[in-house]
Amino acid sequence: MSSSSLTLRRLRQNHHIRELTRAVRVSAEQLIQPLFVVEGITEREPVPGLNGVFRETPDSLLAQIDNDVNAGVTKFLLFGVPAGKDTHNFDPAFTAAQVAAVKQRFGDSVWLAVDVCLCASTSHGHCGVLNEAGDHVINDESVAALTEQALAFAAAGADCVAPSDMMDGRIGAIRSALDEAGFERTVLMSYAAKFKSAFYGPFRVAADSAPAEGAQLKDRASYQIDPARPDDALLSALRDADEGADILMVKPGLPYLDVLASLSAEIPLPWAVYHTSGECAGINLAAEQQLADVRAANLESWTAFVRAGASMIISYNARLASQWLA
Ligand code: PBG
Ligand code: ZN
Repeated sequence: MSSSSLTLRRLRQNHHIRELTRAVRVSAEQLIQPLFVVEGITEREPVPGLNGVFRETPDSLLAQIDNDVNAGVTKFLLFGVPAGKDTHNFDPAFTAAQVAAVKQRFGDSVWLAVDVCLCASTSHGHCGVLNEAGDHVINDESVAALTEQALAFAAAGADCVAPSDMMDGRIGAIRSALDEAGFERTVLMSYAAKFKSAFYGPFRVAADSAPAEGAQLKDRASYQIDPARPDDALLSALRDADEGADILMVKPGLPYLDVLASLSAEIPLPWAVYHTSGECAGINLAAEQQLADVRAANLESWTAFVRAGASMIISYNARLASQWLA
């Protein structure tokens, strides 16, 4: 019988033993930095709530990536925001041109994923084409436009295309279109378990993609997953895996850790998690009131993601990771 009650605290007593006993580690190489590039602005604009993240011009985008590469950040998720908005005709040319410019300048020293969706291109802000009555997103017409966009980004040299629209059948349609066009090496990352969430606020400002005021269809509930239906996320992930997704994603992150843990245990594909704009802004705003430490709160969130089964993390603070993890 021990004369002390010290048991579990023995392995918590100093950083040496804590480092040796950790089961989960986060490294900078797991992180993906989102980027926004906006047509028709002359100077880059800060995104509210996301410190150090900007709506870039085509020129400032290249300068930002140059800084990032020098700081060791090489994996990116690009969102293009074209100036022209429409209801049926969408031109992927602006974003495709930025993809080509990035790959021409940086080549294989960067890994460039490109978000595929229509919400930055539609006048109403929905992720697909609306019917005449404006109360329903037409699935197949949306998939056709998304497929055209994905092909344009692959042709421009994207390493990965990442559809975030949540239409049915888009993964299969995009995979076969890519293969037919000879882009068999383009990686397809599906936002498979993407929930209808209140944690997308700063993003919608950055991408100019909130459902328009006064629109009939007020929110994205008819295509994004209901937070109370984890089985829908499972079905969506199984379906996208079956249709040929290479990487699956859970989004948002912390509110859906249970989903990430169970889906990643169930489906043996690499799992990405999106630490969304609202989650990151929550940390930043708390820190401004001296209520949180930005570094500690991000590292704790990222550790939770890896513990729950993510192999890669999309986070607005990815560019600070190497400094924080050093
Ligand atoms: C839209 C899209 C969203 C995000 C990525 N692509 C939000 C939405 O559904 O409105 C969210 C990213 C974030 O909040 O960081 N297709
Ligand atoms: Zn969208």
